[in-house]
Amino acid sequence: MFGVYVTMAREFHVAVAGATGAVGTQMVQCLEERNFPVKTLRPLASERSLGKSVTYRGQEIPVQVMDEKSFEGIDIALFSAGGGISLKYGPIAAAAGAVVVDNSSAFRMEPDIPLVVPEVNPQDIALYKNRGIIANPNCSTIQMVVVLKPIHDAARIKRVVVSTYQAVSGTGQKAVTELADQVRALLSGADPKISVYPYRIAFNVFPHIDVFLENGYTKEEMKMVLETKKIMGDDTIRVSATTARVPVFYGHSEAVNIETEKKITPEEVRALLAQAPGVKVVDDPANRLYPMPLDAAGQDLTLVGRIREDASIANGIDLWIVADNIRKGAATNAVQIAEILAAQYL
Ligand code: A2P
Repeated sequence: MFGVYVTMAREFHVAVAGATGAVGTQMVQCLEERNFPVKTLRPLASERSLGKSVTYRGQEIPVQVMDEKSFEGIDIALFSAGGGISLKYGPIAAAAGAVVVDNSSAFRMEPDIPLVVPEVNPQDIALYKNRGIIANPNCSTIQMVVVLKPIHDAARIKRVVVSTYQAVSGTGQKAVTELADQVRALLSGADPKISVYPYRIAFNVFPHIDVFLENGYTKEEMKMVLETKKIMGDDTIRVSATTARVPVFYGHSEAVNIETEKKITPEEVRALLAQAPGVKVVDDPANRLYPMPLDAAGQDLTLVGRIREDASIANGIDLWIVADNIRKGAATNAVQIAEILAAQYL
């Protein structure tokens, strides 16, 4: 990507909608870390953030309260302020001439809006022209498809069964604070306060992320089913997901079982993934090396290990996939999309 920056003369006016949140804060940091060609940065949030500022390249930039006029003069708007805000302000930003990269689930399954993971379907970014909006997928889906794509290309994946172990940061900054407060309360003999989740998350696990649907799955689980098909461009892949919340701050883990049409061995999978963009194979059980949230957090690669043959079917592989849900699962993926937009389309 280095060549992209040295040849790119243009700089961009960038807005971050939800700049004070868990993902928005990371978006600002990613823009800086990845040396995105920012001409001006406009951090946006609610009235609650009046008087706050964000730090970008050593400067304190005051947060502005988002309104209909916030996107005038903006080239690229990164959104992570919740689905309702995206539904309202996404089209307003696009009408003002910005290209929106939206981290919410508001537009992901709209047929004319691209849903993009740059390692998997960068070509779909071209479809931003339809409505001026590109959707950033669900965090659990992103880290899974980055790993599945090379296997699908080599052996055609027929079916995926996935169970997730998702960090609280995926719910937002309030949930990070709630887990920390609950742990502190419990260890000091006080009553933990429960407000973000239906149950205490400290020292607990619940199989409930987003709302329950009529088919018995949660919305989070169905995001993994539907988004995987859309990103991989293959409606025939069958997916069944169980998504659980665990008391981890940063980093989602996933146990993934796949059935392929063509036989593929664990050694072949390891070799494929060793070459795959954005993926790091961490798979040396004899030396107790396998991916963990503690190692995935704070960096951008999707870690994969425990690669083994599923002994219960003819063509099956089991994998364990971990990534930083706030970075690759959200902010980094959005900034990567913006990089391709900036380099190739704007
Ligand atoms: P604010 O901090 O002012 O409430 P998280 O995902 O960590 O919960 O963060 C959500 C982000 O979305 C925050 O930056 C939050 O700003 C922003 N946000 C929430 N509601 C609104 C709103 N009505 N208008 C603008 N920004 C909002």
